Amino acid sequence: MLSYRHAFHAGNHADVLKHFLLVELIRYFSQKETPFWYIDTHAGAGVYALDSGYATKLSEHIDGIGRLWSCKDMPAPLAEYVNLVRELNPDGKLRAYPGSPWIAQRLLRPQDRLRLFELHSSDSALLLDNFRALGSAVERRTIVAPTDGYAGLKAVLPPLPRRGLVLIDPSFEDKSDYGTVQVALKDALTRFATGTYMLWYPQLSRADSQRLPAMLKTLPAKSWLHVSLSVNAPAEDGFGMRGSGLFILNPPWTLHKTLQEVMPYLVKVLGRDSAARFVLEQKEN
Ligand SMILES: C[S@@+](CC[C@H](N)C(=O)[O-])C[C@H]1O[C@@H](n2cnc3c(N)ncnc32)[C@H](O)[C@@H]1O
Repeated sequence: MLSYRHAFHAGNHADVLKHFLLVELIRYFSQKETPFWYIDTHAGAGVYALDSGYATKLSEHIDGIGRLWSCKDMPAPLAEYVNLVRELNPDGKLRAYPGSPWIAQRLLRPQDRLRLFELHSSDSALLLDNFRALGSAVERRTIVAPTDGYAGLKAVLPPLPRRGLVLIDPSFEDKSDYGTVQVALKDALTRFATGTYMLWYPQLSRADSQRLPAMLKTLPAKSWLHVSLSVNAPAEDGFGMRGSGLFILNPPWTLHKTLQEVMPYLVKVLGRDSAARFVLEQKEN
């Protein structure tokens, strides 16, 4: 039984980091004419209202995308992501936030394909509705499956064009996800060694969350990049998410330089106390 609903958290600091990186990676993939597949194992609902329903309970977007909304001095790569969020909010008021599938469909070209998996029955129904509303051209190149994303990933790899970007974005509410993501990535590398894989993880006080980056470094990928953004110091009671990170296997070679420019800015704008910081490390091919 899944209880996590991403709508409670849409547009928070973790979404900012993840979706900014997603825009960067898709832009990089689109530099070559040859088609690629975008595979999202934990897709969510696709679009979220920020001014009604679940999002208003915690209003996490206020300290996420909300802090970037009126910034005028953003580094250009970050502005590209914020401009996509603006497209969903044409009157300039922040009322809606795009999930990873919406961002991907907006940037993918006619020759590219989307494969989206979402297990929660309500969110997969919303995702289907949201994609129907985008029209037949997007629908034709998209498959939305209301099934397990880990099994789905096995089934779709390697993608037909042998170019692929995979986002693995579990909530980690199910603690078994810490182990499952490692098994899934190892298996994925045997099926499709040259794919680019983005794994999101939360920074929590739990040992398995803290150990995860070190475990991922042992995967048999030729190259990786790890970036994390902590927005505040760990809470004394040990609860809460103090930040998040992305571990990217086979990243674009340009990504490290872009992040050197953007991460200090994100720390400045999204940081909540003096413990706010980023980590950026990589293993090059
Ligand atoms: C963090 S949210 C995804 C957010 C989305 N990727 C985005 O960036 O907009 C995680 C989602 O995974 C779904 N989920 C949980 N376990 C799953 C599984 N085994 N397969 C597919 N979806 C799953 C949850 O219902 C939830 O909607």
